[in-house]
Amino acid sequence: MGGETSPQHHWKGVLSSALDAVGHTPLIKLQKIAKEEGFKCNLLGKCEFFSAGGSVKDRIANRMVEYAEKEGVLIPGQSVVIEPTRIGLALACAIKGYQCVITLPAKMSLEKEVMLRALGAEIVRTPTEAAWDSPESHIGIAKKLQKSIPGGVILDQYSNPNNPLAHYYGTYEEITYALKTSDLPRKDISLLVAGAGTGGTITGLARAIRGYEGSLVNGAASSHVRTVVLAVDPEGSILGGGEPGNYQVEGIGYDFFPEVLDPNPPLIDQWIKTNDEEAFAATKRLIREEGLFVGGSSGSALSGIIRYLHSENGKSIANDPEANVVIILPDGVRNYMSKEWLLQTAKSASKDQGEDIKDTIKNILGRDLGDVNGVLKEAKDEGKVLQNGEGVNGH
Ligand SMILES: Cc1ncc(COP(=O)(O)O)c(C=O)c1O
Repeated sequence: MGGETSPQHHWKGVLSSALDAVGHTPLIKLQKIAKEEGFKCNLLGKCEFFSAGGSVKDRIANRMVEYAEKEGVLIPGQSVVIEPTRIGLALACAIKGYQCVITLPAKMSLEKEVMLRALGAEIVRTPTEAAWDSPESHIGIAKKLQKSIPGGVILDQYSNPNNPLAHYYGTYEEITYALKTSDLPRKDISLLVAGAGTGGTITGLARAIRGYEGSLVNGAASSHVRTVVLAVDPEGSILGGGEPGNYQVEGIGYDFFPEVLDPNPPLIDQWIKTNDEEAFAATKRLIREEGLFVGGSSGSALSGIIRYLHSENGKSIANDPEANVVIILPDGVRNYMSKEWLLQTAKSASKDQGEDIKDTIKNILGRDLGDVNGVLKEAKDEGKVLQNGEGVNGH
């Protein structure tokens, strides 16, 4: 892989709707970060922001809607889909013609609300502080609405078996296909890391991995080494231990254990707690150094795995040039453009580039880099006309 003509995904021909462009995301080497950290292993990012709705959750929306239609739970023209959070679901509803109501905790970004509204969904904001089982939480409000709205259906990602199954089949198959068709020396996964929200992603992937391992005849004649599966969880979530509290990263962590999450060995070997600061710093690295437009929880996964690979337990994988470390990067930064952590990040990123180049440009131009008014005033004072330019003649 990597040649100019290599296919980047499984798509062939013309797709019949945006729903066919859900998933089929690329697995991309994080070469600069691996090198800087001194890791010899292959760090590989599964880039879910390439999916049609921009998130790993698009996959489960498709599968949950498809199966609910097959089972007659969703009836075209009658059903109203009500769900806590999820752009992918609003996307599926827009294409299939279902009315969609999304309940959204206040901390979720304005960008998500704007996208959901653009897809025709109705949005109900709920207090972030509300415990999951309080009637005012995004889950409580969704349940209340479902009871009172005729045709109201909650597909319930927290308990729907199609949530982990979307990853057991789709996401896992894509990762193994990418590895099999790559030019990497080994084709198996040494280490997999993913954040957990509902837990569908990590549980589905871990089940597929353990299922594959179980299918190898006593491991005989197989070069497969048991895959280490790590789950990442923010401080303030209880999934990986600790007390409930507030944190900024979106999409991962909860104050209850969702039914679809199987948090224990042999599926998940270890939980890694991360904080906002390291997550946002790692997000910045992914964008700045690898050119990947990822959101905050991708930084959580990266910061968690970096810490693990530097630890005693992680060293043998970190030092193995043939080991493949797969990191799920769940969504894209465009969901978070107005968030303070990103605006701050952008400011400090431009500082990182050094004052040198700024001073050089300042000296060449004789002005501050952003000072457009000064240029206009000078042109006016000197009687110069700035032709064919934006803003000429007061436009
Ligand atoms: C934005 C976002 N959505 C979803 C997920 C995964 O969620 P789940 O555990 O529900 O599959 C993550 C996990 O990292 C995430 O960051």
